[in-house]
Amino acid sequence: MRFIKLKVWLFSAILLLSSSIAYAQKDFLSASVNKSADNRVVIWVTESERVLFLTEMRELLMASQAILEASLDDDMDRVETVARKMGIKMLKGTPKSLTKKFPAGFIKLGPKTHLGFEAIADESASLGDKIVILKQLANLQKSCIACHAAYRLNVQPLKCIKN
Ligand code: HEC
Repeated sequence: MRFIKLKVWLFSAILLLSSSIAYAQKDFLSASVNKSADNRVVIWVTESERVLFLTEMRELLMASQAILEASLDDDMDRVETVARKMGIKMLKGTPKSLTKKFPAGFIKLGPKTHLGFEAIADESASLGDKIVILKQLANLQKSCIACHAAYRLNVQPLKCIKN
């Protein structure tokens, strides 16, 4: 009886050990690849970096909508206020600890987008031609599309963080 108990105990111990090794291997593998299943380049970040980044992303979307709406209303003051916040100010506000994780292609598209908003703010503060602004917005949104098609963010498993 004791012998059978020991065998059952041993069997479950081995099962537990092998499944945790399998999990660890899976984590390790996924932490070392840099292409996702949808074929985008993965940028590994911490949970709080992801929260910060995606919060800015949602602000960009809200700003794009507000600029569209305000331009159609010929409300250039609102266009300027909204666009200015998304411009160089936001670009400079991104923490270095995060930007150093960005690949080269990503680094090109980010500033291009913010400078696009800055240019919209400048146009609204000067001539304020809404057709020009709508064209600028349509053009800068190509950078949103290009970046989303190429990159994604994953949260790095805690035990694998090296910095
Ligand atoms: C330099 C790259 C880059 C640019 C430029 C960019 N994004 Fe993003 N955006 C990302 C990445 C990466 C994600 C996360 C995608 C993922 O992990 O699946 C994201 C996610 C988002 C999300 C989802 C937010 C959430 O809460 O999940 C929104 C909305 C968004 N972006 C809007 C925009 C808009 C609007 C623009 C242009 C005005 C833009 N982005 C420009 C890289 C970019």
